[in-house]
Amino acid sequence: MLQFDVVTLFPKMFDAVTEAGVTGRANERRLYQFLPWNPRDFSNNAHRTVDDRPYGGGPGMVMMAEPLDRAVYAARQRQISAGVRKPKMVYLSPQGRRLTHEIVMSLAAEQGIVLLAGRYEGVDERVIARQIADGGDEISIGDYVLSGGELAAMVLMDSVIRQLPGVLGDAESAQQDSFVNGLLDCPHYTRPEVYEGMAVPPVLMSGNHADIARWRLKQALGRTQQRRPDLLAARGVSTEERKLLDEYMIEN
Ligand code: ADE
Repeated sequence: MLQFDVVTLFPKMFDAVTEAGVTGRANERRLYQFLPWNPRDFSNNAHRTVDDRPYGGGPGMVMMAEPLDRAVYAARQRQISAGVRKPKMVYLSPQGRRLTHEIVMSLAAEQGIVLLAGRYEGVDERVIARQIADGGDEISIGDYVLSGGELAAMVLMDSVIRQLPGVLGDAESAQQDSFVNGLLDCPHYTRPEVYEGMAVPPVLMSGNHADIARWRLKQALGRTQQRRPDLLAARGVSTEERKLLDEYMIEN
């Protein structure tokens, strides 16, 4: 079972992952394990201080090296004791490499992941040097700044957990998600057949599974071309797919 040990000042935030929806059900079914580690519990003073002013001056506070380093070390040791051969160390930060479907799939194949969520203006760089720099990973979820790494850690956890065996009800549905075949997803419809004057595409009600699969691939190709031409260029298109794309362009 995949182990997530998360170093965070705000363990309660992770209830959103562990208690709700697909990831909540997967937690109940013990398809992954979540354990939070609060640096406050590793502080060496009565005030449980975890942050201090930055050397060199400037606004904001920096997370202190010692409590953070000790919390990360404890998380890593727990995983090793639980049988994780080499815990994957991940620091969430806007300076990291961007999270992609490929990275999600490689994380889903790990035995254990230790996530470090920073707060305030940053964390003392010596913790990164000691715990992350050597074989670990720094990951960003996009080019914008969050108030802390927690939401990024939760995004990463959600995207990884849904790829774990047995998590999704229909074994197919992660297979059909956007990005799996390098394409965006096709449109979806459910009842009623006509809504506010807009009908469901007739092919979806034809019962012809080959036609339906062809239509869905055509829509996925067309949408990817229109919305994310960069994805399509990186992936390339086969001769058959080129035909579908040409049809899409004529039809839309
Ligand atoms: N922490 C703050 N902003 C972040 C981002 N964009 N990605 C990952 N971690 C972050």
